Amino acid sequence: MIGRGLARIGLYLLMSLIPLSAVQAEPILIAHRGASGERPEHTLAAYERAIDQGADFIEPDLVLTKDGVLVARHENEIGGTTDVADHPEFADRKTSKTIDGVAMTGWFTEDFTLAELRTLRARERLPDVRPANRRFDDLYPIATFEEILKLVRAKEAEAGRRIGLYPETKHPSYFASLGLPHQAALLDLLGRYGYQSEADPVFIQSFEVGNLKALRAASRLRLIQLVDAEGGPTDLPGTTYADMLTVQGLTDIATYADGLGPSAALIIAPEGPTALVGRAHDAGLQVHVWTLRMENIFLPAQYQRADDPQGRGDFASWVRAIAATGVDGVFSDFPGQAKAALESVR
Ligand code: G3P
Ligand code: CA
Repeated sequence: MIGRGLARIGLYLLMSLIPLSAVQAEPILIAHRGASGERPEHTLAAYERAIDQGADFIEPDLVLTKDGVLVARHENEIGGTTDVADHPEFADRKTSKTIDGVAMTGWFTEDFTLAELRTLRARERLPDVRPANRRFDDLYPIATFEEILKLVRAKEAEAGRRIGLYPETKHPSYFASLGLPHQAALLDLLGRYGYQSEADPVFIQSFEVGNLKALRAASRLRLIQLVDAEGGPTDLPGTTYADMLTVQGLTDIATYADGLGPSAALIIAPEGPTALVGRAHDAGLQVHVWTLRMENIFLPAQYQRADDPQGRGDFASWVRAIAATGVDGVFSDFPGQAKAALESVR
């Protein structure tokens, strides 16, 4: 018994000397809405900063304009992330809608042409949490997806490396119901810029299921099924994300998607790492986890420092804990700091 115990201790000591990169590949780093912790999200400035900080992929959330142009916004309601409320010429566009079961009042991208949207300027989404970023308010226009593709092409030439794109279709069933489907516009634009196969540096993601299945039928680009700790896909009422995370559910996802995009709470619960990464890998799915942020308010209790919710916690340890679960990718608002944390375990 003693001999076997010593052997096990020796094995643990040996494993502790092996760098993480020797036993698993470093997760890909996805800049969530660009370097959105440091610049207004989804602006070219946020994406360029993320690329300069070494992000492997940049993440544009995509909605459509009235004239069918894909633009980068986290949601189609733009009152919270632009200066639209300060434009008297658009006062009569303010309206109330119910989108995916949620009632809201504001200004919506589908009620603006691209030319109209381009007169607006982006603002920091979280001015109370990230007050320093307010200095960038009203500087940058709303970016089109094509502008983002052009930025990536230019930055690839400058940096001498590939830079991946990780677009998310936002409210795809809702936009399709308006006669503004994402799919054709997205695949057409990606195709025109040379992205068409599973070898190309693109992942398309969605919280819905139907649009991913339709994309799989139309494209060989890699697809990611997003899931959350609560709720379910809005296009499959009665199905929960918990249903989709059973062994059978993961097997089903693997028939149309290449990976799973879970929230961090699904990977590390308060009591410790869950079994999801292993189960997803067994089903043949990659795992890309969202979203790692530096501020205490977004960190699990053990990584928070001091009482200030806006203050920054022990982000590096949080990133390393997530990486140690074996995930294949991480989304972060702070790609520079996330990259440093990932590299520190090499
Ligand atoms: O797409 C991954 C993550 O961004 C999902 O959440 O709401 O930030 O788009 P959200
Ligand atoms: Ca997203």
